Amino acid sequence: MGRVQLDELSLVDFRNIRSLTIKPSPRFNIVSGRNGMGKTNLLESIYIIGSMRSFRQSRRVDMLRRGAKETRIRGRFGDICAGMVCEITMGHEGRQVKIDGKGAHLDGRYFHALPMVIFHPGNLAIVQGGPEARRRFLDRALFQAEISYQEAYRSYGKAIANRNRILKTRPLDKRALDPFDEQLASHGAQIVMMRERLVISMSPLFEEAMERIGGDGQSRMTYRPKVEGGFDEIMCALRETIEKDSAKGYTTAGPHADDLVFEVNGLDARKFASQGQQRTIVLAAKIAETGSLEKSTGRTPLLLLDDVSSELDRDRNRHLFDFLAGLGGQVFITTTHVDHIPIEGDRIDFFVENGSIAVN
Ligand SMILES: Nc1ncnc2c1ncn2[C@@H]1O[C@H](COP(=O)(O)OP(=O)(O)OP(=O)(O)O)[C@@H](O)[C@H]1O
Ligand SMILES: [Mg+2]
Repeated sequence: MGRVQLDELSLVDFRNIRSLTIKPSPRFNIVSGRNGMGKTNLLESIYIIGSMRSFRQSRRVDMLRRGAKETRIRGRFGDICAGMVCEITMGHEGRQVKIDGKGAHLDGRYFHALPMVIFHPGNLAIVQGGPEARRRFLDRALFQAEISYQEAYRSYGKAIANRNRILKTRPLDKRALDPFDEQLASHGAQIVMMRERLVISMSPLFEEAMERIGGDGQSRMTYRPKVEGGFDEIMCALRETIEKDSAKGYTTAGPHADDLVFEVNGLDARKFASQGQQRTIVLAAKIAETGSLEKSTGRTPLLLLDDVSSELDRDRNRHLFDFLAGLGGQVFITTTHVDHIPIEGDRIDFFVENGSIAVN
C-alpha cells in the first residue's frame, strides 16, 4: 500500500518559527521540547497542507509570525505522491496555494489524495463535548474519504441557511420552503449515506484498537442519525416539523443534528468513562479513521499525534506504540518527555527550542 509521505517540509514565518527545513523519516518522527517551544506549531503546519485549515480555533492571520507580512508552508511528498510539491502562502489579504508550481483549485480530489489524521488534546471534545464535536470528526474524515462529500456538505449548509431564513418570516409561507426541503432531503440523504458508510468501516477498527490499547471490555461506536433513512424519510421529517421549526426559527430535523455514540461495556463514554479511558477512545477513533481512510483513498494516511502520551498509564502507552508500530505509514509525534515514546529504530528525533529545530 502506498502512503502519504512528507519527504521535506519548509516553513517561513509560521507562528514562532522563523525559518526551517526538515527531511522527516518515512516512519516515525519524534518532535520533543519544552512547553511553548513550537512542537504543536510544527504539526499544525503539516496538517494545513493536508486540510487547508488549522485544527486550532485560529484565524489565518494568527498563524503569521508576529510582525511578519506572510507565512509560507512548503511540503514535498514522496512514495505514492512522488515529487508532488505543495506550497501555501498566507498573508493578511488571503491565501495562495500552488501545486507543482502552478495555481491550484482545491476540490475533493486534493483532500482525497493527501489523507492525514491528527490527534490533539482538543480532540477529547469528541467524547466529552456535545454532538457538534462528533459531527465535526465525521465530517473532517469524510472530506478526505469521499470526493463528493464536500460538495454535498456545502450545498446542504446553503439550503439550511435559506430554509431557516424563511422559517423566521411571518406569516410563514409554507410553499416557499418546498424547494429547500427537496435540496435538504437530497443532499442530506447523501450525507447520511456517507456517514453511515464511514462508521460501518471504522467500527471494527475502533473495537480492535480499544481492545489492544485499553482492554476495558466491549466498546462500540454507533452512528445515530437524527432522521433514519434517505430522501423520503428526511422529506417526511421536514414536513412533520414545520410548526415546531417555525416557532423555533430554525430547522430541527436532518443530518445537521446527527450524533455518534461511544460506549464502553454498554455505558455511554461521555458520562461514565475516566479521563484516561476517554483519551483511549479518541485515540482508537483516530486509529480507526486512519484505517478507514486507507481503504477509501488507497493510501496510508499520514498520522499526526500531538501530546499523545499524557494521561495514559504505562501499559496503555506501551500498547498504543506497539499498535502504531504495526500500522505502517508516516507518523509525527510531539512530546515533552522523549522517554515516553518507546519506539525502537525507524525514527528521527527532532528537538524544538524557541521555534528552531535540531536533529538529535
Ligand atoms: N503568530 C505567532 N507569532 C509568534 N509566536 C507565536 C505565534 N503563535 C503562537 N506563537 C508562540 O508559539 C508558542 C507555542 O507553540 P506550541 O503550541 O507549538 O508549543 P508546544 O511546543 O507545542 O508546547 P506544549 O508542550 O505546551 O504543547 C508560544 O510561545 C506562542 O507564543
Ligand atoms: Mg503543544
